[in-house]
Amino acid sequence: MASKVPAALLSCAFLLLLGAACQAAAGHYSPPSPASCGLKVGYYDHKCPPAEAIVKSVVRAAVRRNPGIGAGLIRMLFHDCFVEGCDASVLLDPTPANPQPEKLGPPNNPSLRGFEVIDAAKAAVERACPGVVSCADIVAFAARDASSFLGGRRVDFDMPAGRLDGRASNASRTLDFLPPPTSSLPELVQSFAAKGLSAEDMVALSGAHTVGRSHCSSFVPDRLAVPSDISASFAASLKGQCPASPSSSDDPTVVQDVVTPDRLDNQYYKNVLAHRVLFTSDASLLTSPATAKLVDDNANVPGWWEDSFKVAMVKMASVEVKTGNSGEIRRNCRLVN
Ligand code: HEM
Ligand SMILES: *[C@@H]1O[C@H](CO)[C@@H](O)[C@H](O)[C@H]1NC(C)=O
Repeated sequence: MASKVPAALLSCAFLLLLGAACQAAAGHYSPPSPASCGLKVGYYDHKCPPAEAIVKSVVRAAVRRNPGIGAGLIRMLFHDCFVEGCDASVLLDPTPANPQPEKLGPPNNPSLRGFEVIDAAKAAVERACPGVVSCADIVAFAARDASSFLGGRRVDFDMPAGRLDGRASNASRTLDFLPPPTSSLPELVQSFAAKGLSAEDMVALSGAHTVGRSHCSSFVPDRLAVPSDISASFAASLKGQCPASPSSSDDPTVVQDVVTPDRLDNQYYKNVLAHRVLFTSDASLLTSPATAKLVDDNANVPGWWEDSFKVAMVKMASVEVKTGNSGEIRRNCRLVN
């Protein structure tokens, strides 16, 4: 009995050293918070046994109707976790007291999708166990479930839970922490390091650009201007799909991965090597020998990317999580209690 606490502390410290599960390290901004070690696989097993199955069935139905929603849910976890930590701050709607929440920040508005799926999952979970399951955990479960529905058994993984929902959400912070698609490699490495994630994690997580879509405005004109390292035939195809100057009233979308657009697989890295990716940030992975080697391994070593992606998703999902008195369990994911 007495050995329990030291053992827990030890494994927590061990995980922190490994950088494997207890994220929260905001790089040079703040020291790693041991609070994130409160996350646990099976957290709702006793508190709300059907919680994970309920979320999964809602996500399954949504992804079956539209695989793009699955892509949106994977992206939602990233956008939630990098701004105020994984606390569902991205879900909050504007109110008179807070007219500009994260949701209205440029990286999220209008492109982030899947909010209705989170609402449906929350409503179903509330019917089963009122007031028990946080919106932040639902976002993390939904991203995990979307990954496995789009990627199959090889992208199936456990998602630790126990996050609380935050009360702060500010559109201005989205541009402080979410790197733009024009980012160079050093800028990407820096923005992930600020969240305690390595360059290797960044490369593995960028592989999510093997599903979903992008608005033309996210890469026109910078990627279609000459000179660019983009493949000439790919650039020509994009020019055929996008206006020369996209605007809010004329901003079509294109798929990110033309080879397997709805499949969460390692095709992204083959596209990077073939110079058939949309963003400067994607192409930049080839601009250092170390990250170029990672791209090559992810593209060519069977199972390498899937294993790295699963670990990196769990790490990202523990960035600056709120536990204890630092948050709440929202009744409605769009509003603070
Ligand atoms: C490395 C830095 C990253 C940059 C610069 C970046 C940028 C972008 C941009 C500009 C879009 C297109 C948005 C639009 O115009 O509709 C996009 C889409 C997407 N991103 Fe990223 N992203 C990054 C990392 C990530 C990460 C870490 C994930 C998740 C693990 C992710 C998942 C996605 C997904 C799934 C989509 C498609 C969304 C949809 O179809 O609705 N991205 N990203
Ligand atoms: C959001 O951040 C901006 C810029 O830092 C600040 O001026 C504004 O007061 C903040 N809004 C809220 C509701 O805290």
